Amino acid sequence: MKPELGVCYYPEHWPEAMWAEDAARMVETGISWVRIGEFAWSRMEPVPGDLQLDWLDRAIETLGAAGLKVVLGTPTATPPRWMLEKHPDMLAVDVLGNTRKFGSRRHYCFSHSSYVQESVRIARIMGERYGRNPHIAAWQIDNEYGCHDTTVSYGIAALHAFQLWLKDQYGSINALNEAWGNIFWAMEYRDFDQIDLPNMTVTEPNPAHVLAFRRFSSDQVVAYNKAQADVLRALTDAPLLHNYMGRVLDFDHFKVGEDLDIATWDSYPIGFLSDRLEADEAHKTAFLQQGDPDMQAFHHDLYRAVGRGRWWVMEQQPGPVNWAPYNPAPLPGMVRLWSLEAVAHGAEVVSYFRWRQAPFAQEQMHAGLLTPNNRPAPALTEAKQTSEALSEIGNVVQTQAQVAILFDYASDWAWSTQPQGAGFDYFRLVFSAYRALRRAGLSVDFVSSTNIPRVGYKFILAPGIATVSDNLERQLAEACDLLIMGPRSGAITHDFQIPRARPGLNGLKCDVDLVETLPPNIRRGVEGGGAAQHWIDRVSGVAPNLLTFADGTPALLGENCLWYLAGFPDDTLWDRVVEMAARKTEVTLFPMPKGLRRRETATHVFLINYNAQPVAWNGEVVDACDVAVTQKDAPEEE
Ligand code: GAL
Repeated sequence: MKPELGVCYYPEHWPEAMWAEDAARMVETGISWVRIGEFAWSRMEPVPGDLQLDWLDRAIETLGAAGLKVVLGTPTATPPRWMLEKHPDMLAVDVLGNTRKFGSRRHYCFSHSSYVQESVRIARIMGERYGRNPHIAAWQIDNEYGCHDTTVSYGIAALHAFQLWLKDQYGSINALNEAWGNIFWAMEYRDFDQIDLPNMTVTEPNPAHVLAFRRFSSDQVVAYNKAQADVLRALTDAPLLHNYMGRVLDFDHFKVGEDLDIATWDSYPIGFLSDRLEADEAHKTAFLQQGDPDMQAFHHDLYRAVGRGRWWVMEQQPGPVNWAPYNPAPLPGMVRLWSLEAVAHGAEVVSYFRWRQAPFAQEQMHAGLLTPNNRPAPALTEAKQTSEALSEIGNVVQTQAQVAILFDYASDWAWSTQPQGAGFDYFRLVFSAYRALRRAGLSVDFVSSTNIPRVGYKFILAPGIATVSDNLERQLAEACDLLIMGPRSGAITHDFQIPRARPGLNGLKCDVDLVETLPPNIRRGVEGGGAAQHWIDRVSGVAPNLLTFADGTPALLGENCLWYLAGFPDDTLWDRVVEMAARKTEVTLFPMPKGLRRRETATHVFLINYNAQPVAWNGEVVDACDVAVTQKDAPEEE
């Protein structure tokens, strides 16, 4: 399939007289997809039951007539003001017990059953009207679940739903008391309706209680999405999708993804580097106007797994955004680079956010492809160049990578509930592993615990996986030649207790004697180079040491097909571990210079230069902020 370009468009923001010209300009730019509708509920239904969809009919017709394929969004992320008169208790409640107000977006609680019904109602109305419309080629359900910290609510609707969920999970209150260890601090319950939400307690709540609540909150997102998906399925054959975010782990994306056809995500590289990545000042300065060289690729690879191979960028940053602490412009070339990088990782569509900058309201400082006055913004030219480059590149065929990382949302919920050391963070750990694989020039797949290919990986990294069942360990071991677990892998049961035998380590006849966490400026050196930071598992037992801390305790141990990393590696230690694993499993590494990344597909090799200077590598010079694409030789006919 040849990758395509798209754009996010808000016909309700502009006079109708502009629509046809906008559509024609989109087509001229090389754009073939347009997403509309996801925030337009107050225009679709200005008062309850009074549906005003003629304008939307005409917008779809105008865009479609220009040759554009339309992604139609259900507008449920922005319930209109009248919804609150009907359902005053639908608003989410924050951790301090404050009700969140109307006046922005995502002001609903996933557990509010009447709001779920309102969402299903509007999805059905839209499905009935547009499900067979030839211009509607995909559906987006809602917008960015979890954005603005909205997965979890501590209101009354969530409380009642949580109590029912617990009853369903545990069956009897005694089973719950036992599983959570509620004898501790005399926290035992006599009935499910005594169990409150785990906020505003005097000191920390039971981590088992918190983890259960986080699982429940994730399940509510899955159920909410499924309710709309089920309605639309019956009314359309077009694919269903949702637009996920960067470094938002509050719900299980793999589970939401099971009810959808395509995973999409919203990629804002410069905003992300400034507002959600730990990096030193030198790194943040070097990549200020380009974004982090691994952050986008990480999510491309993750969402390729969430979409079971099918994924898009739904919103691509086109210029300065409005929401980061500082909002510099992308360097020339970067919009094109981000777009081609997504294609290298398998994106079917790269869609820019947004067509024209809005002159009003919250996002008036957010760039688009056009200025508010309808002049071309710098990204318009780069979108056009991207479209030309895509014609040259042709079909990009993906293939299974040689190495994979096991990614697990519940591990983030567990470790954010009980970090034990302030620097210990699941995403940070996994991202550091991913970066190491990319520094070694490797292409990477993600796998989830419910979807592990049966065979084919040379090695799999499973750092920080909170709960590892015997079954999961067996499946992982079967899928690769070498499984590397740790640190903090298999460290708790499903109910947040320390397991009697640690999976993985048990197989190595080893156990953890104690756990240490370190402040960020302290590292524990490893003989021969590198160090552990943040987290150390002090392990003893039978398996041989492969790497040793300066004090003689094991840093990496294992034998045959299973290794255990006994600390959170710094970059040098990760590089050593990757090198040792590659040597053992016969994987060729391509050590990359800073800021240059390599992605290999079945048909092409992409070299992606995030640096503001040209970089020479392997006899080739890649220009600043540019992508070099090499077509591989076609395989010989048998
Ligand atoms: C996304 C969101 C868009 C818009 C954009 C601004 O998170 O889906 O609606 O707000 O950010 O960068």
